[in-house]
Amino acid sequence: MITIDLVQKVLQPSLAWVYLFFLVSVTKYFCDLGFPALLAGLHCNTYSSTWFSLPSSIAIFLGRWNISIQQKAATMAEAAISQAEASATAATDSAAVAAVDDDAKFTFYIAICSTLAATGGLLFGYDIGISGGVTAMDGFLEKFFHRVHRRQQAVKEDQEDNYCRYDDQELQLFTSSLYLACLVGSIVGSRTCSKYGRKLAIQLASIFYLVGAATNASAYDLSMLILGRILVGMGDGFVLQAVPLFLSELAPAKIRGSLNILFQLNVTVGILIAKTVNYFAAQIYPWGWRLSLGLAEALAIVLFLGSLVITETPTSLVERGHHQRGLAVLEKIRGTSNVRCEYKQIILAGEASRQVKDPYRSLLSRSCRPPLAVAVAVQIFTQFTGINVIMFYAPLLFETIGFKTSASLLSTVIVGGINAIATVVSIALVDRAGRRVLLMEASVQMFVTQAAIGGILAAKLTASSSLETGTAVAVVVLICLYVMSFAWSWGAFCCLIPSEIFPLESRTAGISCSMGINMICTFIIAQAFLSMLCRMRAGTFFFFAGWTVVMGLFVLFLLPETNGVPIDDMSERVWKQHWFWKSFMDDDQDPEAGNHEK
Ligand code: BGC
Repeated sequence: MITIDLVQKVLQPSLAWVYLFFLVSVTKYFCDLGFPALLAGLHCNTYSSTWFSLPSSIAIFLGRWNISIQQKAATMAEAAISQAEASATAATDSAAVAAVDDDAKFTFYIAICSTLAATGGLLFGYDIGISGGVTAMDGFLEKFFHRVHRRQQAVKEDQEDNYCRYDDQELQLFTSSLYLACLVGSIVGSRTCSKYGRKLAIQLASIFYLVGAATNASAYDLSMLILGRILVGMGDGFVLQAVPLFLSELAPAKIRGSLNILFQLNVTVGILIAKTVNYFAAQIYPWGWRLSLGLAEALAIVLFLGSLVITETPTSLVERGHHQRGLAVLEKIRGTSNVRCEYKQIILAGEASRQVKDPYRSLLSRSCRPPLAVAVAVQIFTQFTGINVIMFYAPLLFETIGFKTSASLLSTVIVGGINAIATVVSIALVDRAGRRVLLMEASVQMFVTQAAIGGILAAKLTASSSLETGTAVAVVVLICLYVMSFAWSWGAFCCLIPSEIFPLESRTAGISCSMGINMICTFIIAQAFLSMLCRMRAGTFFFFAGWTVVMGLFVLFLLPETNGVPIDDMSERVWKQHWFWKSFMDDDQDPEAGNHEK
């Protein structure tokens, strides 16, 4: 069914092909002009232009299809996310609502289900963290990327430019292809979540992972390798849609917020596991890379077995008409039969969100522009901190500055550990310090560290030399300080902020949109960084340092504090009070207002 839908609704709008052609031409035009910054890092040919244009074209392709998918998804997800809205609707029952909260327990069953489902976060993190170390392994380069391997040898004999040894579009495609697949996977996953439930979506994710990891580990040529990455990326897309939703629908309302960052914590732990695996696997020449890519299979098996035993969420069951089963599951996960009010909330929230005809149309309404602009900016800024330069390519970067493979892999393990620890710090601080303080502090810390790295490389790393040990260690320390500040700010908040700033009627549409932007930007960074390093050299770090200034100013002037504000009070207490955004909040002038079924 999904395939038929895909063919009918995605391939039919032939205008999208024209759009792709147009974008390729425009990108190539700017590229030929020597467009500074990002494109400066690329070879100016139709190939690279196509890669740059493809994500947005795919987004357009799938956008229309996604709208109808998301309408359904929104109906259900909003039911889960908007407990507060439901409570308001059920105002007459407010005393009973409190009674349900008191009775509801964090049961062992919830703990088991959440832990098993959250393995999806570990897998997503594993995929982020594994590629950099694998691409630094000699056995891997010899097998799939002879050109890069030859260049690496030439660097050792002082015949090749140090900064350019890894500059290869296909090598970058190995990393980046996953994020295009992830974009597609999250769209299909969203439909699966809404039509067939969260449990099935998680099961499908685990099957994608099982097949993808096996394909990767047994790959004998580049196309098989990329196919494996695409399958794994599809799994990631399903996980990103299903797991956070599953966790928030299962959790008692009191701990729903912290679960949001806990998912991100799992992602960072997954990254750390991958980096540790790489460190040991690199010592097994020539097939250590097979072990690195194949070990994802172990996590995938846990997710698969787990997905057989986890429950479906009550929200999903009720939304699909299985009211009795929904009630039974709710009683089981809350450990009490006194769930009448929460059950009523689920039903009422579902009805309220069904009133919204088109969440995407709501998203484009004038009063939705402030949260939309902020959510999009947050995703762009998160990626343009340059974090994934480190997450994906740190081992290659460390080799570029002169580390041997094992030292560079060990350094990335340290960086991965700091990433995870700083995420825990974020969980502890977020509700005390607020979002703005942490984001602004991080912008300063990231600017200083990136600029210092750029300065050191500009002064000390030439095309044919490497850094002295002391200087190289200083670069690693600076990278640790940089990653630390990212993890307790943008890293933790890039999911949190979009999930709390949209009004009910456009919440899931807004979250899904911002997730798509994240994937597109991740793809761009993954596909561009090694080429940027070759063309812009130390300037690459000044480029990202420049972005941290822009994002600091954005936080200072345009990002309102949302800490402690009830999720459904954002409009009154945040947007209508903000010096700039309040001008968008005049409902009377809103031509899109009234996007509700009468
Ligand atoms: C970002 C990922 C990144 C990760 C690093 C997340 O917030 O979205 O792209 O790899 O943080 O921990």
